Amino acid sequence: MSRVAQARARQASKAGRRPGRDGAPELGGSEAGPGDQALEAEKATTGPLLEARDLKKTFATGGQELAILKGLSLKVASGQSLAILGASGSGKSTLLYLLGGLDRPSGGQVLSRGLDVFRLSEPELARWRAREVGFVFQYHHLLSEFAALENVAMPALVAGLSQAQAEGLAKPLLERVGLAQRLSHRPGKLSGGEQQRVALARALVLSPKVLLADEPTGNLDAQSAALVNALISELVAEKKMSAVVVTHNADLARQMETRLELVNGRLRPWPG
Ligand SMILES: Nc1ncnc2c1ncn2[C@@H]1O[C@H](COP(=O)(O)OP(=O)(O)OP(=O)(O)O)[C@@H](O)[C@H]1O
Ligand SMILES: [Mg+2]
Repeated sequence: MSRVAQARARQASKAGRRPGRDGAPELGGSEAGPGDQALEAEKATTGPLLEARDLKKTFATGGQELAILKGLSLKVASGQSLAILGASGSGKSTLLYLLGGLDRPSGGQVLSRGLDVFRLSEPELARWRAREVGFVFQYHHLLSEFAALENVAMPALVAGLSQAQAEGLAKPLLERVGLAQRLSHRPGKLSGGEQQRVALARALVLSPKVLLADEPTGNLDAQSAALVNALISELVAEKKMSAVVVTHNADLARQMETRLELVNGRLRPWPG
C-alpha cells in the first residue's frame, strides 16, 4: 500500500468517531457510499452560512459537570469574517470544534444554511465538513512523514480526487502562501511559520465556504505571526470566504469585520 493510500485509510477509519482534543484533526472527506448521495446538505439553502443556536457544551470529569458553553448563539453570514477572543479556558476551542462538526454539543444546534449538521450520519457529516469547512489549528497537525505538497493535497485525496488533481489544487496554494520552494519539505524541516502556512494551504485546498482557525499564530514569534495573520486576512478576502478566527492577537482580531468575546459560556461584543 502506498504511503498516500495508508494515510487515506487512516483518515477514513477516523470518519466514524470523534477526534481526541490532542489528536490529529479530521481533514474532511469520507468514504461515503452512493447511499447518501442525496445528501440533505445539498438541499439546504436557507438561513445563514453557519449558525449556532442555543449551543451548550458540558464536560463531565471526575464526577463533576463543567458547563462551558451555556446556550450560545451566533450567526456567520456568507463572506463575513469574525474574531473570537476570550480568556484561556473560556471555551473558544470547544466552540470552534462544534461549529466545524468535530465534536457534538450537549444541547442546541449548529445549522449550515438551515441544515442541522448533527442530524447527519457520520459519512454525511464528514462530507459536509470536507465541502464547507477548512480548519487551521494552533498546532498545525501536519502529517510528519509527508511532504508539504502531500499534506496540502491530502484532504483532496481523501475526498476522492486523483493524485494529479489533488496536487494540481495544492501547488498553487503553496505558491500563494510563499512556499513554492518548499513543496517537498517535510514538516520537521520547516519553520513554525512555514508549517502554519502549509496548514493554511491545506485548510483551503477544497475551497471551503468557511475557514475556522484556532489561534493559528499562537505559537509563532511576532514576525512570523504577522506574516501568517496578513495571509489569513488576504486569503479570506480574496476567496470571499467566511472566517471564524479564535485569537489572542489584537492585530489579527482587528483585521476581521466583527469581534466577539466569549465570557461565561456566551458571546458578547469585544470591548477592546
Ligand atoms: N474533553 C474535555 N473534557 C473535560 N474538560 C474539557 C475537555 N475539553 C475542554 N475541557 C475544558 O473546557 C474548558 C474550555 O476549554 P477550551 O479548550 O475550549 O478553552 P479555550 O478558550 O480554547 O482556552 P485556550 O485559550 O487556553 O486555548 C477548559 O476548562 C477545559 O479544561
Ligand atoms: Mg483553545
